[in-house]
Amino acid sequence: MKKAVKITDGIYRLGANIKNGDLFEGMWPIPDGVSLNCYIVKGAKTALIDLVGDWAQAPSDIKKQLESIPVKLSEIDYLVLNHIEPDHTSWLEDFLKEAPQIELVTNKKGAALVESFYGITENVRVIDTGDTISLGDNKELIFHNIPNVHWPETMITFEKESGILFSCDAFGSYGSIKDSVFDDEISEKDHNFFDVESLRYYANIVSSFSKFVLKAIEKLSIYDIKVIAPSHGIIWRENPGEIIERYRKFAQYLEGPAEPEITVIWGSMYGNTEKILHSVIKGIRSESVPVHVHRVPDEDVSWALASAWKSRGLVFGMPTYEYKMFPPIASVLNMFNLKHVYNKKVFRFGSFGWSGGAQKEFDAATEGMKWDFIDPLEWKGKADEDIHEQAFERGRQLALMIKEQ
Ligand code: FEO
Repeated sequence: MKKAVKITDGIYRLGANIKNGDLFEGMWPIPDGVSLNCYIVKGAKTALIDLVGDWAQAPSDIKKQLESIPVKLSEIDYLVLNHIEPDHTSWLEDFLKEAPQIELVTNKKGAALVESFYGITENVRVIDTGDTISLGDNKELIFHNIPNVHWPETMITFEKESGILFSCDAFGSYGSIKDSVFDDEISEKDHNFFDVESLRYYANIVSSFSKFVLKAIEKLSIYDIKVIAPSHGIIWRENPGEIIERYRKFAQYLEGPAEPEITVIWGSMYGNTEKILHSVIKGIRSESVPVHVHRVPDEDVSWALASAWKSRGLVFGMPTYEYKMFPPIASVLNMFNLKHVYNKKVFRFGSFGWSGGAQKEFDAATEGMKWDFIDPLEWKGKADEDIHEQAFERGRQLALMIKEQ
């Protein structure tokens, strides 16, 4: 988009799509890009809500879009920083060189991060929950801390007259913005795309902090929210409740039960574990439970993590490797532990050559994840018909448990 998008009188969205093949947070694939959104609120005084990182063409896009509205860089009075992660702030030092008059507005923890990342201590206004800045012309900003969604300094900004909640990462999604940034103007296909990509974004970025997400949703219920304007993804002006409820549901998956589905994550060296995978899946499908299959290391863990987050049941198929777990699955488990993929029903199967060992390490790695296991299935070398039958029955057993939960 070459122009700023008007949300209401005096309030505009400026944004950039990052589609340069980079990874989000240096590790998460974004094949369909991600948007960086920031917002102008113009009263008698003008505030910019959040910035963009010095990432690809984002700063030049923002400067170009500013030219399409009656606001010059030199006329911006405040830059509100809801969150200091560099995807929103790494342009800050250069930006302030072009607009040195701007006063930064953030909370105490935000100010400490601005100093540690950028060495900036001057012209910083430290605010706290409930503090306000009146911009004149009926524009008033109120601030509210929502710590740990997903960094400790995270806060939101609410504009009282319009009812716009500037939520930064919260209620965001992966995915570039195409023809429109508004929920009521995008196609059903694009809605489905953002449904999927908001879950992947949530599981990758926010899931560990789900308890704080629920607290934040409770805190924000005091505001009459008419529009949600996040810093990644679309703007929710027709139905802001949809993205709030979606985030509430995602956060509640932490304690479970999640959706009555099963995610299968598998890896195989020479096909002996893969052959049994098919019998397990047949057993799951015999009970008509949806199953999502992810192979590692072929596919990045980002997708398996999203799928696992919303599934009640997990299956791990992996052989023993050097008396331990197949390393790509060990890596998945490490990520699942970090991201708090808890409270699941779980089955693990896999072959071994000389001796087992994967199961022992699997049990140790998953201790503390509040997983409820059914009996594992291991065999030496090539599986015989009896192993196939047991695999089918284990798949079916797990599916039945999922349905009964
Ligand atoms: Fe979009 Fe946590 O940064």
